[in-house]
Amino acid sequence: MTSETAAPAADLGELAWQDPHRPRFHFVAPGGWMNDPNGVAQWGDTYHLFYQYNPDSTAHERIHWGHATSKDLVHWHDEPIALTPGDGADADADGCWSGVLVNHDGVPTVMYSGHRGGSERACIATADPTLRSWHKEPGNPVIPESPQGLDLIAYRDHCVWHEAGQWHQLIGGGIAGIGGAALHYTSPDLRHWRYDGLLHSADIDVPGELWTGTMWECIDLFPLGDSHILVFSVWDDETTHYPAYYVGDYADGKFVARSLHVLDYGLRHFYAPQSMTDVRGRRIAYGWIQEGRSGDATRQAGWSGAISLPRQLLLGADGQLLQAPVKEVASLRRDHHSVGPQTLPDRSVVPLSDVAGDQLDIELRLVVPPGATAEITVRCTSDGSEKTVIIVDRDTGELRLDRQHSSRDLDVDRKPLVGAVPIATDGRVELRVIIDHSVLEIFANGRALTARVYPTRPDAVGVAVGAVGGHIQLEQLDAWTMADIWTGPRPVRP
Ligand code: FRU
Repeated sequence: MTSETAAPAADLGELAWQDPHRPRFHFVAPGGWMNDPNGVAQWGDTYHLFYQYNPDSTAHERIHWGHATSKDLVHWHDEPIALTPGDGADADADGCWSGVLVNHDGVPTVMYSGHRGGSERACIATADPTLRSWHKEPGNPVIPESPQGLDLIAYRDHCVWHEAGQWHQLIGGGIAGIGGAALHYTSPDLRHWRYDGLLHSADIDVPGELWTGTMWECIDLFPLGDSHILVFSVWDDETTHYPAYYVGDYADGKFVARSLHVLDYGLRHFYAPQSMTDVRGRRIAYGWIQEGRSGDATRQAGWSGAISLPRQLLLGADGQLLQAPVKEVASLRRDHHSVGPQTLPDRSVVPLSDVAGDQLDIELRLVVPPGATAEITVRCTSDGSEKTVIIVDRDTGELRLDRQHSSRDLDVDRKPLVGAVPIATDGRVELRVIIDHSVLEIFANGRALTARVYPTRPDAVGVAVGAVGGHIQLEQLDAWTMADIWTGPRPVRP
């Protein structure tokens, strides 16, 4: 144990519950540290969300698999911890790192990265039909060594699917001098694996100028529309971490990428996403919403990390992902206020006196002419000394988040975030802004930007819309307060 692990779990839960920055309609573990979503699935009529979890402190140490279930993708029920790190010689003695859940002839089976002594190996655990009681495979690790002949600097995380009578698996890797890679394996039974080579790696030229880091974490390959999407999380010791994806074609164990994009412009604030297909055929992704405050601040707050709202992924006409929260999220909408069509004059800031809060869902339809930028201000104090500004710039085609004045606490992350948004010649922009205390999820014409903001003042609840550089047509604005998903007593881990 390090000094980081001083507070017992119960205190962490109580601290977390009191923290004004804790989201109230996003999933958060009941105290402690959490990171990646794992094993996301729909099993029978229940959605399962496992996650990287340290119940004992707010630091990334001795990672367990936490577990939560939902019937509606909105309200989550805490379940007992699914996986706990093993002992001494076990492959997962130092942690149960990320992985996925598959249905193996009716047996819930997870493939995860056992972490021990600074490296990771593929491990298996199986569950009873309730997915509450997990048993680790005595033969773990099921892949004892990484492939010979590759100069791997990292090797972990799993994507597993069944195809043409056999199991396929991708393991994320980093190859010295090359960068990220997706290592491809096949197996008749999930226990015996053959390495089949690289499905894809960073040295294959694909249009898109992105640096994809020294390794790829949390690889996720799935069909969407007439294409396949290969999602991965760009990892590098020095630089920013962010989620990215290739769009391409996959058939018979071969992937040919056509283009490369950033998945969420909030970068590390929507990291390590994992996705699933539900019974309705929707592709639904969850991401880890990292903190923007220091280790000290999270220790005092009793918690670190949240999970994004489940988002549905679609393929747009331009061949890139369109993202939006699943429609079930709208069931949390409560008090409604709408603003009809009006012109926002150049250099105006129009406060919306009837729309205020730190739990809001706001939809706007705007027409932004050439030369103009739309500015939506949220989490704004009455004197404007704290505010966060969402900017859509018609000429640069950018969505920007200005967090410079988001908080008077100068220790929190206030860096700007930016990404490209497709804006047609009619200048139409559809914006959705979801505010849940410190969590902000923004969708602009289908592109996503997730971030954290930590205003210090309780009156940082104001909302305003404005225009710079030209008159903007506000066609429609609808705003709702959002209900708390944690009703009743504070959540306590069973
Ligand atoms: C991504 C990641 C994974 C790893 C897990 C450990 O955030 O680093 O690569 O399996 O988290 O918690």
